[in-house]
Amino acid sequence: MSGIPPDPSGPPPGRAPVLCGVGGWLPPRVVTNAELSQRLDTTDAWITTRTGIRGRHAVEPGQATSDLAVEAGRRALCSAGEPAVDTVLVATTTPDRPCPATAPLVAARLGLRHVAAFDVSAVCTGFVYGLATAAGLIAAGVSERVLLIGADVYSSIVDPDDRTNAIIFGDGAGAVVLRAGEVDEPGALGHFDLGSDGDGEEIIMIAAGGSRQRGSDRPPTREESHFAMRGKEVYRHAVTRMAASARAALDSAGWKPGDVDHFVGHQANLRILQSVADDLGIERDRCARHLVEVGNTGAASIPLALDHAYSTGLLSPGARVLLTGFGGGLTWGSCVLRWPDLSQEPDGRRALGKDRQ
Ligand code: COA
Repeated sequence: MSGIPPDPSGPPPGRAPVLCGVGGWLPPRVVTNAELSQRLDTTDAWITTRTGIRGRHAVEPGQATSDLAVEAGRRALCSAGEPAVDTVLVATTTPDRPCPATAPLVAARLGLRHVAAFDVSAVCTGFVYGLATAAGLIAAGVSERVLLIGADVYSSIVDPDDRTNAIIFGDGAGAVVLRAGEVDEPGALGHFDLGSDGDGEEIIMIAAGGSRQRGSDRPPTREESHFAMRGKEVYRHAVTRMAASARAALDSAGWKPGDVDHFVGHQANLRILQSVADDLGIERDRCARHLVEVGNTGAASIPLALDHAYSTGLLSPGARVLLTGFGGGLTWGSCVLRWPDLSQEPDGRRALGKDRQ
């Protein structure tokens, strides 16, 4: 049975979530393909040909998701020029602990005490689901300003000896600030498409650590305790689901693929992104390709790619941006926005200067 079809008229009139700040943070340590090929049975040529990835960042021992999230959150708040928010959301697959959520700790460390704070769990689609959650909170009048952070430390869940996954994933965090605004102003998010297919649960999973395994009387194996993925099936689902979701969001917004100035798809694999772009009819040079430098950073991949595109001048005010995520669950989601003129926000970004990654 499928769900209720989305309202073709798009978001209701009234309050809209408007993007007013962006920031990202990558741990300084870079792991190159050459370094990986010294300890795994792989090569730089294999990795770049199959994935497009040339490097990824990794935390130091003892660093956790909240450490990255706080840095990215601080930069996004600074970019928005106004440090106050009333809600903090953290999209992550690698919370600091199974309980409690990571968002309250991140909020407290940012000096945002007593705000609403919770995690969003949708694996690599978590950031897009987080945008939709923030949109709902703002539209309902529950929140005025939301800090949404996508942050993941995949090095904490990927088996370092698993060559299939160790080459793909990296650590990082990206964040945006959303404020209540008007539906038709630049930066307003709209026309979401979200979906899931739980029949694909086993294609991307960590088998152990949850109530299913803890409720059994058998301790988990090493394999069950680490991130596992059926690469070929993921690849196939990613291409078809991302293309269909992006098309649904574009149709709902009344945009044609040729209208898209910048396509920020989940940064999983360059070949996946190019297939999706080809399928949609978006020029390949309009696709974000931040993954070449940072790999797949999970829920951080879209905001990190946005931050990278903005800081390198690829995103000008008014640019039509399409965001599409895909991840475990299976889950997927898209939304569109016109890039805002962030220099119009009270500007803390310039003050940050060389501090940025
Ligand atoms: N280095 C060298 N060889 C490797 C390797 C590595 N890192 N990983 C796998 N191989 C080998 C396999 O063992 C296999 O060898 P065989 O033919 O002797 O059995 C061969 O390469 C082909 O493996 P296969 O899994 O078919 O490769 P692939 O072309 O499907 O590429 C992925 C593997 C993981 C790169 C690809 O499936 C992929 O990108 N999937 C999507 C992953 C993703 O984006 N996940 C995140 C979604 S949120």
